[in-house]
Amino acid sequence: MISMQFRLALIVAAAAAFAVAPAGAQQPIIIKFSHVVAVDTPKGKAADYFKKLAEERTKGRVKIEVYPNSQLYKDKEELEALQLGSVQMLAPSLAKFGPMGLREFEVFDLPYIFDSYAELHKVTQGTVGAGLLKKLEPKGIVGLAYWDNGFKVMSANKPIKVPADYKGLKMRIQSSKVLEGQMRALGSLPQVMAFSEVYQALQTGVVDGTENPPSNFYTQKMHEVQKFLALTDHGYLGYAVIANKKFWDGLPADIRTALESAMKDATKYANDIAKKENDDAVAAVKASGKTQVLALTADEKKAMKKALDVVHKENESKVGKELLQAIYKETGYEP
Ligand code: LMR
Repeated sequence: MISMQFRLALIVAAAAAFAVAPAGAQQPIIIKFSHVVAVDTPKGKAADYFKKLAEERTKGRVKIEVYPNSQLYKDKEELEALQLGSVQMLAPSLAKFGPMGLREFEVFDLPYIFDSYAELHKVTQGTVGAGLLKKLEPKGIVGLAYWDNGFKVMSANKPIKVPADYKGLKMRIQSSKVLEGQMRALGSLPQVMAFSEVYQALQTGVVDGTENPPSNFYTQKMHEVQKFLALTDHGYLGYAVIANKKFWDGLPADIRTALESAMKDATKYANDIAKKENDDAVAAVKASGKTQVLALTADEKKAMKKALDVVHKENESKVGKELLQAIYKETGYEP
């Protein structure tokens, strides 16, 4: 008969064996990756794909926790949280770096500066894009990649096809001086607001309309509370994937290399799916029957571009004349 005392000793010994992890089986490094959009968007899908690749390639030594839909932090808070180290990774839209004093990033918000993804990629995948990411470092942030979303559309409860249609409308924008100038150039009243608050603001009439790529419009169900969606393609919205620099630099070198390789492949994936995700979202909005989708004629597009040209000149010194010229050179934009 084993004595009670001996049995107890066995239990204590077994518990101790579990408590002391064997060499090589340390706790995984946790990376919290927070974002504000739905899972079913270019950014949401790419974040999940990065998680999968990163966990596979680090053989479980890294665990990525993705928090979508402003679940953890809203736009402004998420950048503060990253700098404080409460989260390790984010992918804010490029417009959101302006309030940190990095107005250069608002160059991406200029109306019609890119006519296509191909033109945009000359910037984001070239030296100009790399130079911009470097500017994040003094803020304690490392820029890892650019992820595409797409070209923006405008929505409201009245048809909005030409500049005169926008007069007096309260339009929600991201916190960007360029976007503020854009809405003013159309005669509307820009209202800065966190992404997570837009649906309700549209529903209650706090704002009359908004702009975003179709994937964001559809997945936030904005079509339920907006009657018209105009396919203006008047500007671009995309992301910089970023990490807390101290955290990133402090990772074991082999882990960082594995994460960089996962990021490279996740970036390709993000940029490969972005256009289709947005095309599908337009089709889904049409199919919902709740919002009327308006295509613009060539003349209507011309009128929009003409009204918005002024925004480039007005913001030249804010975003940086040299940067602007370097981008025009890449894309062939004619002011
Ligand atoms: C917005 O605030 O409209 C967008 O930046 C949301 C996003 O991250 O795509």
